[in-house]
Amino acid sequence: MPALLEVTDLTKVFGGLRANDGISFTVGAGEILGLIGPNGAGKTTLFHCITGFHRPERGTVRFDGRDITGLPPHRIARMGMARTFQTYVAGGDLTVLETAMVGCFSRTASPSRARIRAREILGFLGLADLADLPIRDLPVAGQKRVALATALGTEPKLLLLDEVAAGLNPGEIGELMDAIRHVHEERGVTLIVIEHVMELVMNLSDRVLVLDSGRVIAQGLPQEVAHDPAVIRAYLGEKYAARYLEEASP
Ligand SMILES: Nc1ncnc2c1ncn2[C@@H]1O[C@H](COP(=O)(O)OP(=O)(O)OP(=O)(O)O)[C@@H](O)[C@H]1O
Ligand SMILES: [Mg+2]
Repeated sequence: MPALLEVTDLTKVFGGLRANDGISFTVGAGEILGLIGPNGAGKTTLFHCITGFHRPERGTVRFDGRDITGLPPHRIARMGMARTFQTYVAGGDLTVLETAMVGCFSRTASPSRARIRAREILGFLGLADLADLPIRDLPVAGQKRVALATALGTEPKLLLLDEVAAGLNPGEIGELMDAIRHVHEERGVTLIVIEHVMELVMNLSDRVLVLDSGRVIAQGLPQEVAHDPAVIRAYLGEKYAARYLEEASP
């Protein structure tokens, strides 16, 4: 089966800095790929390049059998790719429901249909009770979850999540993990998940890609990556590796 997403030799330069430096990887349909690495590794830049917000200096992005390198974000979104943003600031006077409806309008022009669909999505993300609140009244973590609802409203084949668990408490992380699994299983959405919350990314992901200084330093199964000396050195640290080994052993 061909890959849903195929990134080849992707390079993005800011002045003298190679934020993405020859990155290559694929994501198969139905997979969950975790994307980890230290601050400034180039994870968000990679999302910007894949989704059309940045134009890479070199390399290609193929999605669903087409070369999408350099296409504008709205065209890529229409093809079935959606994302959330690491820094999400809700503006204006929209309610939670109206914010979720924005995504649905990419698939229907009918406000009543968009409203029904948005309510359904808010429901399974556990946000139904907040539907009529102004989104700016929610804490940042709640706003990010609404952004996830908006992204789902576009009915994506591929969904890119940039640190949606940041700022959540352990209970909320568990709920979010269930919601992401639900999206993946019931709707067949393929996912790339950037996350610093290790229990979330290591539990959810089929495979993990590790970036450091713009380059891929490792990729593989979560347990392989967690034991990789280069990953431990660059990002995870000895303490995490020891804890992960302990938890993973029978
Ligand atoms: N628009 C920009 N102009 C100049 N430099 C940038 C720009 N965007 C990102 N960078 C730099 O590129 C590097 C990669 O940044 P990026 O935001 O992709 O990292 P990240 O892996 O997402 O980090 P974090 O975990 O902190 O979110 C950093 O050194 C950052 O300062
Ligand atoms: Mg980032």
